[in-house]
Amino acid sequence: PAVEYGLDAPFDVEYHDSIPSTNARARDLAAEGASDVVVLADEQTGGRGRLDRDWASPSGGIWLSLLFRPDVPMAHAPVYTLAAAVAATRAAREAGVEAGIKWPNDVLVDVDGEERKLVGILTEMEGEADRVSWVVVGIGVNANVDPESLPSEANPTSLEAVRGAPVDRRLFTQRLVETFDTLRQSPDSVLDAWREYATTLGRDVRVETPRGVVEGEAVDVEFPGRLVVRTDDGRETVSAGDCEHLRRV
Ligand code: BTN
Repeated sequence: PAVEYGLDAPFDVEYHDSIPSTNARARDLAAEGASDVVVLADEQTGGRGRLDRDWASPSGGIWLSLLFRPDVPMAHAPVYTLAAAVAATRAAREAGVEAGIKWPNDVLVDVDGEERKLVGILTEMEGEADRVSWVVVGIGVNANVDPESLPSEANPTSLEAVRGAPVDRRLFTQRLVETFDTLRQSPDSVLDAWREYATTLGRDVRVETPRGVVEGEAVDVEFPGRLVVRTDDGRETVSAGDCEHLRRV
């Protein structure tokens, strides 16, 4: 295999050199009743992003999906997306890349004064309103890939490009999964960790939602992941799932 993923983590590891999508595979495992599995791939041939977009996933990246079954209502699930962003940001910083989080879940890094995307997160779930059945958190890390080979609309960069040397994918994944595991057990601590890495707070933003545009200063984040915006008329909150586009103004 391209990577020997012997992780020391409370997740079973299923590794593929190539697979259409680790999220699709994790959903299939969920349907079979599995839990606490991390599906990893060196390459995805049909990676999916948010808003039904394609997600380019060439060999050299870290494409992974965490499947688990938390005992929480459906409405709490967005907190796991924030937890994944925190975990990926911490792992990137440990690898020497000063990443930050753009609400709700993009992990970005400043390259020559421009923010470029390092990591994308796609969370899927199923269940009843009062209790989720399963959650799949898909994390795509542009690790050892050439940003030139990724679609330029996403404004991508990679860990390798920023560091000038490849990252140890096994170690990065180990740290990411460890942090995620700690945070999923104490959802209340996720927001504090998230605030520490946020690049969105204190800035003027314009958020497009299905219900219209919200403009103002992003002042805080609220459980389970709503952005609090101070607008001309007072205060509005936008839930992570409703964000179609966020622009800093
Ligand atoms: C985004 O649009 O920013 C989210 C991208 C999520 C990509 C990851 S890669 C691993 C997992 N499998 C997928 O097909 N998508 C997610």
